[in-house]
Amino acid sequence: MYEMSESWFLGLLEGKHWLSNADYDIDTIFTVLKAAKELKEMFHKGVRKVNWLDGKTLYLIFYNKSLRTRNSFQTGMYQLGGQAIYISPDQVYTPTLPEDMVPYATEAISDVARVLSRYGSGIAIRIYGDAAKWIIGRGHRIIQEFAKWSKVPVLNMEDDIWHPFQSLADALAAFEALGFPKDLRGKKVVVSYAYSGGLKPLAVPQDVATTFAMLGADVYVAHPPGFELLDDVMNKAKKFAEHWGSEFKIVYNMDEAFEGATIVYPKAWSPKGFFPPFNSKVDKEGATAYQNKFKDWIVTTERLEKAGKPFYMHCGPADRGQEVTDEVLDSYPKSLYFEEAENRLHVQKAVMAMTMGSRKW
Ligand code: CP
Repeated sequence: MYEMSESWFLGLLEGKHWLSNADYDIDTIFTVLKAAKELKEMFHKGVRKVNWLDGKTLYLIFYNKSLRTRNSFQTGMYQLGGQAIYISPDQVYTPTLPEDMVPYATEAISDVARVLSRYGSGIAIRIYGDAAKWIIGRGHRIIQEFAKWSKVPVLNMEDDIWHPFQSLADALAAFEALGFPKDLRGKKVVVSYAYSGGLKPLAVPQDVATTFAMLGADVYVAHPPGFELLDDVMNKAKKFAEHWGSEFKIVYNMDEAFEGATIVYPKAWSPKGFFPPFNSKVDKEGATAYQNKFKDWIVTTERLEKAGKPFYMHCGPADRGQEVTDEVLDSYPKSLYFEEAENRLHVQKAVMAMTMGSRKW
């Protein structure tokens, strides 16, 4: 164990929630990336454990599946000297909003948050899709309800609006790939729809577009008609682009969007018009039939070469043969897929140390 009782960023945001990157100012996002870079360097020098979060516990409540998020949070807490406890909502009285309570099967989020606050030092939650009844925005409302009642930091592990730790990890991968420029001004980043047979949330494209705009990139969002992202999120991203004097554009053609890009980030999301509040009912069949028309939105090596060989990014898990070919994932030299996955560990350790750590200075 590597004993190191202090770090410049430990407790820097003590007690704060992290629900969205856009809740913070641009300088704070750069600070997190700086801390994450240091943590990654320590990790690669062989430092596997510090004692910064000694005696602290983070509860991980997963209403949805996960490989990367669960294991990077659990591993990260261990490496910071604390522990993480996984909670399946089926194995407790399911934490629930007031309007959906079922006697002795659910428990009010207000109570769950206050009970866990008595034991530990943080609560992290993932909720979207079926778990949020496919009412877009309900997952985020559930996480906000935890944050309202919790006395300890609440961390968003992906809801139906945001996936903040994913886009922080992606941003770190982008800075690394580009040799750590001061900011991302003049870099064209394309967040594009790519086809999947599954129904995926809007969180990643929305968060990546917003966070990369916060960092100064020229952000292009590309998708077929019907895959529009939420207006208020896109307006936020646009405002960040205006702050830097950078571009923010919506394009309806993948190849046109890719042309001359520095980074492309093609992934699936669902057509929101089939779900409340944009539709009167949840229409998964309609959404699936509609998105099946866009199977040609797949990333191939030829497409990337034609675009000028941009860096390729995807949050994972990527649907091979649908969103992207095996060839791109396994042998495209400018794929950042596994770097992004690794960086989840480092950015999350940075934010956990900042929010759950105590100032020693
Ligand atoms: N990217 C991401 O959040 O992956 P998991 O679903 O595996 O956690």
